[in-house]
Amino acid sequence: MIFGRIKPVDAIIRTAEKKALVRSLGLGQLVLLGVGATIGTGIFVLTAAAAQKAGPGMLLSFVIAGSICALAALCYSELAAMVPVSGSAYTYSYAVIGELLAWMVGWALVLEYAVSASAVSVGWSGYFMGLLESITGFALPQALSRGPVWSMNGVLPSLDFSHGVINLPAFLIALAVTSLLVLGTRESARFNAIFVVVKIAALTAFIALTIPVLDTGNFSPFAPNGWFGTGGAHGFGIVGAAASIFFAYIGFDAVSTAAEETKNPQRNVPLALIGSLAICTVFYVAVAAGAIGAMGAQPVPGPDGAAVMPGSAGFVEACLLPANREALVCSNEALAHVLRAINWPVVGNALGLIANLALPSVVLMMMYGQTRIFFVMARDGLLPEKLARIHPRFGTPHVVTMVTGVFVATVAAVLPIGQLADISNSGTLFAFFMVAVAVLVLRIREPGRKRPFRVPFVWIVAPASIGGCLFLFANLPVDAQLVLPIWGGIGLIIYFLYGYRRSHVGRGLAEIHERDADARPHLKDIA
Ligand code: ALA
Repeated sequence: MIFGRIKPVDAIIRTAEKKALVRSLGLGQLVLLGVGATIGTGIFVLTAAAAQKAGPGMLLSFVIAGSICALAALCYSELAAMVPVSGSAYTYSYAVIGELLAWMVGWALVLEYAVSASAVSVGWSGYFMGLLESITGFALPQALSRGPVWSMNGVLPSLDFSHGVINLPAFLIALAVTSLLVLGTRESARFNAIFVVVKIAALTAFIALTIPVLDTGNFSPFAPNGWFGTGGAHGFGIVGAAASIFFAYIGFDAVSTAAEETKNPQRNVPLALIGSLAICTVFYVAVAAGAIGAMGAQPVPGPDGAAVMPGSAGFVEACLLPANREALVCSNEALAHVLRAINWPVVGNALGLIANLALPSVVLMMMYGQTRIFFVMARDGLLPEKLARIHPRFGTPHVVTMVTGVFVATVAAVLPIGQLADISNSGTLFAFFMVAVAVLVLRIREPGRKRPFRVPFVWIVAPASIGGCLFLFANLPVDAQLVLPIWGGIGLIIYFLYGYRRSHVGRGLAEIHERDADARPHLKDIA
């Protein structure tokens, strides 16, 4: 019977209409929103991890991950244009496949939004320390600048504190962003448009300086770990790197959350989703080509000559060897490192400065997205309504923001970036998978419903999106794969202990909500 708990699409649409937010966002602003939320740690930092897994073949990894995101973007477009309300994949699932699965999607979105905010905080920390050291010569002790190394000891995780204890800068930046969100996003978020332009300028400068010194010899061997890793190693090779670098594309779906405030959403949301994804893909492939061509991107082997996972103890040790210290794959600030290596230290430092300034805005977008999703879930009765309380003076959902902030900061303090990104990918892939399923279910169940945007060749595109998500998930490292069912299990327990009984839909209260309009800053301030 619980599968019968569906929130009627019409009730959701009436909620949106009732709120009557000013439709002020145009296509350009939406694209800025998507690009702003997408370009971040993935390209600025994780390029190094992708190279460790795939070598120069990571070029194809960017293309594979981008193509799978494009399929997902088409599916998002159909639902976002039809149900233009907040809550993204969670709301769509509630309308189409029912409360239990919607809860699971919302719960998985914590991995997408909150954990990626943690990952970007750790990415920022690497750039911050690099800049600090190159300007002042001061370096934080290792114990305070990186978290412990995690590994699995049977089914239990084991921690190795010999290379780090806590990532203090990552912890502090996450708390700083939380404070901004509690005080109100208006002022801070206004800077997003500037940051997008600055990030694009930095990547353009990177491409302009690296492509002319490109040495084709650096592309060979092109795929030292093959497509899927050699010698039975899982999570390596071009496909393993694609599963990880998928992180660089997370965020474009933020566009769908702005549907309520968009002029002509039926046209602009799909165009902005696809457009921002296309812009990011072009920059990512060009930047990766520049990085590989300028300084080489071969993986460093572990002590026994086998491939080692970025972030693992074997990898940290390999990177401490004098022969490997300067390797791209060992850098915490990959792009700045490349520019310094090709004798552009000042531009490298400037790029580092830009990353320092711009990455916190990605943390902000991700945390903002998380608070919105928690907010909608609390409003639906699936989480305690206290979480949705609005601060009397700041007008922000301060309780949910602080809970999210402490979670993000704590996770950022103790986990390495590669693992955080992979965990975030596992949750996002689940959400993308469910969105594609929802498109197909709704096509069958309500074929006559008005669809302002229709996925072209839906019976090819949506199954391909489902298959692509499964394919990438299957190639994530096993630890990250395990997190999804464990996290899902915790979610199920919470649902049956709490949400199942408190759900508004379950109690027959599928009412029209208006409150979230109060808490919501206009997205035109973000875009
Ligand atoms: N795609 C975002 C980033 O790379 C999350 O930082």
